[in-house]
Amino acid sequence: MTMPAMGARLGGGALDDAERASRDQIMALQRERLAWSLRHAYENVPFYKRKFDEAGVHPSDLRELDDLAKFPFTLKTDLRDNYPFNMFAVPRERLARVHGSSGTTGKPIVVGYTQADIDMWADVMARSIRAAGVRPGMMVHVAYGYGLFTGGLGAHYGAERLGCTVVPMSGGMTERQVQLINDFKPDAIMVTPSYMLALQDGFAKAGLEARESSLKFGIFGAEPWTNAMRGEIERAFALDATDIYGLSEVIGPGVAQECVETKDGLHIWEDHFYPEIIDPVTGAVLPEGEKGELVFTSLTKEAFPIIRYRTRDLTRLMAGTARPGMRRMEKITGRSDDMIILRGVNLFPSQIEEILLAQDFCSGHYQLELTREGRMDELTVHAEVMGPAYDTMDLAGAERRILKRIKDSIGVTTRVVLHGPGEVERSLTGKAKRIVDRRPKE
Ligand code: DLL
Repeated sequence: MTMPAMGARLGGGALDDAERASRDQIMALQRERLAWSLRHAYENVPFYKRKFDEAGVHPSDLRELDDLAKFPFTLKTDLRDNYPFNMFAVPRERLARVHGSSGTTGKPIVVGYTQADIDMWADVMARSIRAAGVRPGMMVHVAYGYGLFTGGLGAHYGAERLGCTVVPMSGGMTERQVQLINDFKPDAIMVTPSYMLALQDGFAKAGLEARESSLKFGIFGAEPWTNAMRGEIERAFALDATDIYGLSEVIGPGVAQECVETKDGLHIWEDHFYPEIIDPVTGAVLPEGEKGELVFTSLTKEAFPIIRYRTRDLTRLMAGTARPGMRRMEKITGRSDDMIILRGVNLFPSQIEEILLAQDFCSGHYQLELTREGRMDELTVHAEVMGPAYDTMDLAGAERRILKRIKDSIGVTTRVVLHGPGEVERSLTGKAKRIVDRRPKE
């Protein structure tokens, strides 16, 4: 007797049908699926029924994809108000799993999955991991946190679905991570970019050459990171680094992924997730190419359909390249709630990150501290200098140079303090904390 499932599991890197589809085919599929998803949400979640009725719209009003703009947005506060289980469209017994995202305050957001949702998620994650260059049979070290956070288990199921050997390491215990990477020799790593820098430090501490590691592919996301940071990580580890995007409310990681052959922004898996870009102030849908807030509608999810969810992430949409049927989103430069307004000037941590990483002595570890002196807000950039440079360099001169760069390119005066190796707070398990706000609460 033969075992038919084997071939599928160990198959090569063939693309899914949707990845080969034309733009027209994808749009036709979206029209059909969007109609289903709106109806499913309306008929099974009292919150959506009330919101649609109040806005005077009905799922049958959707004829073209653009008609989605008539439907109301969903906000994070709506999910909080319906904590824990009131946004689900299926009875609790049909949930295979729940995940949660810890807000900064109060109750977490709870999301749920049927078995079919978990399968779809594993499929889009397998597709993402393949797009990053990983192939069946390779070994994948997962250092995203396991637990209520979607990173660890999302990566885990996707890598298994692709046919990889998974090392379910989770976050933290840097020394142990370095040891296992050195001993097991994984081909790929999935981790937040800031924790990858901590692993780089860990290699140095253990007296190991990061460039000599077995890692060939890195799949980094869960927090904003710049192309300058990509350069830093690729050079340090001699690997190909790609960006993965997602959020719990939409599914978890695997909503969009950069293709390793182009590294030109993230292809959105549009057969399952429908993107819009809106003006964050007026809520109007913006034309393709314009920058604004990313909004997602799920097309196939059963347990937790999400309609026009305002992510607060800022980006723009562009035509597909490596997957021509699916649009790309530009690497996310920040969230609208991460924007610092300093004496009237808007700035994002990513702008500072680019300036810091343009200095060859700066590691990627940095934090922005906001304080208030009298009536004035002050911003102090705390940045870390790499090992050998720190002992010999002219620190005060370097601080003045960075300060001038920031002033010239962003137009605002900050303070800059350079620290020695290991002195800037690390993100041990997850997302880096870039902004420390010490201004008095009003
Ligand atoms: O961070 C899911 C994830 C896990 C994505 C692992 C990628 C890898 P949440 O905890 O719900 O889910 O946080 C979602 O994180 O709205 C963005 O602000 C940010 N984010 C996620 N990926 C990226 C990325 C996961 N590639 C929030 N670039 C999102 C920039 C990202 N920001």
